[in-house]
Amino acid sequence: MSATITSTWRQVAARVVRHEDWGGGHRWLDLEVPGDLPAPAAGQFVQLLLPPPNPVLLPRPMSIAGARRARGRAVLGFLYAPVGAGTKALAALPVGAELELLGPLGRGYPLEAPGTPLLLAGGRGVAPLLFAADALARAGRRSTFLFGARTAAQLVGLAEARARLARNGGRLHLCTDDGSRGRRGTVVDLLEALAPRLAGPLVIHACGPHGMLAAVARWGLAHGVPAHLAMESVMACGTGVCRGCPLPRSAERRAAFDPAATPSLYGNREYAMCCTEGPVFEAHDLDWERVE
Ligand SMILES: Cc1cc2nc3c(=O)[nH]c(=O)nc-3n(C[C@H](O)[C@H](O)[C@H](O)COP(=O)(O)OP(=O)(O)OC[C@H]3O[C@@H](n4cnc5c(N)ncnc54)[C@H](O)[C@@H]3O)c2cc1C
Ligand code: FES
Repeated sequence: MSATITSTWRQVAARVVRHEDWGGGHRWLDLEVPGDLPAPAAGQFVQLLLPPPNPVLLPRPMSIAGARRARGRAVLGFLYAPVGAGTKALAALPVGAELELLGPLGRGYPLEAPGTPLLLAGGRGVAPLLFAADALARAGRRSTFLFGARTAAQLVGLAEARARLARNGGRLHLCTDDGSRGRRGTVVDLLEALAPRLAGPLVIHACGPHGMLAAVARWGLAHGVPAHLAMESVMACGTGVCRGCPLPRSAERRAAFDPAATPSLYGNREYAMCCTEGPVFEAHDLDWERVE
């Protein structure tokens, strides 16, 4: 399992300080929160609870795409798509609006893992990897960033990724399924082509659709390259209480499962809880044939 674990979340008032259209059906949101909120790790997420009148009862999970501190306050950044009632209501919040934020939640990327970091993003999965690229740069480590989407228009956040990597000395490689930008093909095709040219050993940190993450996990397992994948699940509580975010454990992890050594907010022998044991899992942790 991944090494990084944090359970020091808090529920705080957050204020919208920047909220803009980023094209491709996505928006960027900056929320100001109290400066003593525990510092998040890349790959962790928050639950956002909208102010009344609120069309949805439950908070909505969102990956942290950036974090900075200024004048005793902290600002967390998010890249999101308004897809349903909750995120559409979020999209309508003006600068100055207040909401509740629960976090930071879950287990982030183990960026301290040895090896040359390869960041693999699919579509809006770029969000936590923008944060990971910054964190690696702060630790004095360069990253190689592979960013893919179905079409050029869906490479959302490309300008931001380019700017952050330019600041950090990282390298950006692009691909699209239709060849409209970068290499034609998937992120895994790009990985296959680039990996032999990169200084090993490699360590992968990825986020994107589950189909892409399953392919990255299989590639990592086949090549003996550790791969850390940020998963999603429909979530209610985000804290391990509701048992609503199960992901199937691998046979290896089921065999090694020890109930006595498993925290109560984790899952059972069959299923891991995405919100507490993840959202970042190592490729060996899950049964990729049964991940939906
Ligand atoms: C750990 C985590 C991190 C996330 N980070 C981001 C992010 O950085 N940016 C972003 O845009 N979204 C992110 N999401 C997804 C986001 O939480 C959902 O899109 C949101 O909850 C949908 O709420 P809604 O009320 O707008 O839509 P709903 O009306 O609840 O659902 C609209 C549609 O989206 C589907 N859906 C809902 N939740 C999910 C989900 N988790 N995964 C896939 N499909 C879903 C529903 O099945 C439905 O088809 C993340 C989810 C998780 C679990
Ligand atoms: S969302 Fe409630 S247990 Fe994971």
